[in-house]
Amino acid sequence: MKLFIPGPTQVHPDILAEMARPAIGHRTPECAQLWGTARAGLSKLMLTQNEILMLTAPASAMMEATIRNLVHEHSLHVVNGAFSKRWFEIAKSNGKQAVAIDIPWGHGIDADGLRAALEAAKAEGKSYDAVTVVHNETSTGTVTPLEPLAEVLADYPETLLCVDAVSSMAGAPVRVDDWKLDVCLFGLQKCLALPAGMAIAAVSPRAMQRATQVKDRGWVLDFLRLAKGNEKEQSPTTPSTAHLYALVAQLKRIEEEGLENRWARHAEMAAATREWAASHGWLPYPQDGHRSETVSCIARGNGPDFVPALESLKAEGLLVSNGYGDLKGKTFRIGHMGEHSMADLTDLLQRFDAALNAEVQA
Ligand SMILES: Cc1ncc(COP(=O)(O)O)c(C=O)c1O
Repeated sequence: MKLFIPGPTQVHPDILAEMARPAIGHRTPECAQLWGTARAGLSKLMLTQNEILMLTAPASAMMEATIRNLVHEHSLHVVNGAFSKRWFEIAKSNGKQAVAIDIPWGHGIDADGLRAALEAAKAEGKSYDAVTVVHNETSTGTVTPLEPLAEVLADYPETLLCVDAVSSMAGAPVRVDDWKLDVCLFGLQKCLALPAGMAIAAVSPRAMQRATQVKDRGWVLDFLRLAKGNEKEQSPTTPSTAHLYALVAQLKRIEEEGLENRWARHAEMAAATREWAASHGWLPYPQDGHRSETVSCIARGNGPDFVPALESLKAEGLLVSNGYGDLKGKTFRIGHMGEHSMADLTDLLQRFDAALNAEVQA
């Protein structure tokens, strides 16, 4: 099956081969070398000097870790899709006084919207320890520009900017230091094009400082314990060395491609997908200015029903995602991320057209 879903995505055969290497002890110099090389490569990928934390876990574990380490009591959550809603729910389920700013799916919050929420809290004599934002909402293919939010937060120094870049990192620009992201987290299974299995975060010095003051951070997800492990290039728990080998090799491949070239390749695929969708009378689901370059979410509009074509493609071994949750049948999503090339995408879209034509003729 060839995966054009918005993650997990295709893994290069050379990377799969890396994962088949024999296991090594996780307290050996070889493993420390791998750990250090991965961290150095991730700093370059994320454009940051911040502490790089790595866990053998799903990305959601880092979402939970962010809450447990940085929030004493009050957190604010921009909710514009399924994964941003998950972060809000994670905070509530960890006993925090979590507040959601609900905005319509397909939209992103702007500076004024964030400032209004922060001011409303201030008027009640309250401040938030952190605000969470999903940079690229995979459920709707919606991007939220982060720089304007960081500018607002400069006036609220007690509120840390925590960002989920799960489906944008390595596929679209994410400049952790320039954009002043206190936490930027992601998993491996999207634009990095590795199998799922590790969660990564870059954590700013002031966020690490916050963690020292927060009680009951737990053990496995404790940022301070993870950072202490880094001093010896070790994980406190047993890491997946298969993923470490694969990560180091993939970071090298990404460096060889060039980060900007990689971003440009994703942007080109997104533009071609939007043009193709328009030719069928379909519309981009997200608002203008908020359209993802790694996952296109396409609404039916006046175009033909796409669901039978998704089924035909699946029978041919090509997996494209139906809409998320309530958007099923109303939207579909093409993940053009990671290893996919324009040639792969063109082939998919031609086969999609053939499936649509076959439907019309049937
Ligand atoms: C934006 C976003 N955040 C978080 C997650 C959760 O990742 P995981 O399943 O690795 O916990 C996903 C998964 O699709 C996602 O797309």
